[in-house]
Amino acid sequence: MKIVINGGTGLIGSKTVARLRSAGHDVVAASPQSGVNSVTGEGLAEAVKGAQVIIDLSNSPSWEDAAVLEFFQRSTGNLIAAATANDVKHYVALSVVGTDRLQASGYFVAKLAQETLIKRSGVPYTIVHSTQFFELLGFLVKSWDLGDKVVVPAALIQPIASDDVADVMAEVAIAPPRNGTIEIAGPERFPIRDLVAKYLAATGDARAVEASAEVPYSGAKLEEATLVSDNNPRLGKIAFDQWFAARAKAA
Ligand SMILES: NC(=O)c1ccc[n+]([C@@H]2O[C@H](COP(=O)([O-])OP(=O)(O)OC[C@H]3O[C@@H](n4cnc5c(N)ncnc54)[C@H](OP(=O)(O)O)[C@@H]3O)[C@@H](O)[C@H]2O)c1
Repeated sequence: MKIVINGGTGLIGSKTVARLRSAGHDVVAASPQSGVNSVTGEGLAEAVKGAQVIIDLSNSPSWEDAAVLEFFQRSTGNLIAAATANDVKHYVALSVVGTDRLQASGYFVAKLAQETLIKRSGVPYTIVHSTQFFELLGFLVKSWDLGDKVVVPAALIQPIASDDVADVMAEVAIAPPRNGTIEIAGPERFPIRDLVAKYLAATGDARAVEASAEVPYSGAKLEEATLVSDNNPRLGKIAFDQWFAARAKAA
């Protein structure tokens, strides 16, 4: 089956490309690096010709509010137009658990716009809502770093390894479209404070971690359960300790 993965060079994209190729599918890893730009439309018609499935795993290079909204609107609009013109049978996209609860954040306004375009497109689809990737942890810790201590949102998190996400994306892509959203999460739920303390300890950083309801995530204040799924999520297999050990070994 011909499958186009937009964002096929990214964190989840490259792992999903590898899984579907080793299962014998004809996979196009589309991205600006490979001459396909879903925002401008460059190279898209050729890439999508004859495809049965499109998986959108792209992300905006800029997370500034207007830029990220423009990225997801233009990119998704162009992908849907190409899917419609080529009678694509399944459009799969990756979004985030709690997107509708995070509308004080420009990034999540853009993700909701992406989801709405897909739902209204008339193309059979599956949206996968994932919790935060473990690989995002270092970036998040930097955003909450006050120098002498780290102050994080007072909320829960249930992070997932990118390998578990890619397994689901590859499986969903070859299954029938749900015309709906499924949710995935990691195997363990933590207060963000406990997870960040564990991460800092594992990296040899002895600083204190505090929690505050005033500290935002991606520009939005959190309720306790904003980032976790109450929608019967499918759980990944890789726990924090296993993920961290594999990452340390690779480094
Ligand atoms: N981070 C999280 O915790 C989290 C959680 C749930 C869901 N998600 C969602 O997961 C998705 C994938 O995230 P990721 O971290 O795997 O992304 P990533 O590693 O940042 O990769 C982004 C990909 O998008 C491609 N791209 C950028 N501009 C493009 C354009 N104009 N046309 C086509 N492709 C373009 C990049 O291509 P180049 O390499 O050529 O630049 C790259 O392949 C995102 O939509 C994100 O919202 C993230």
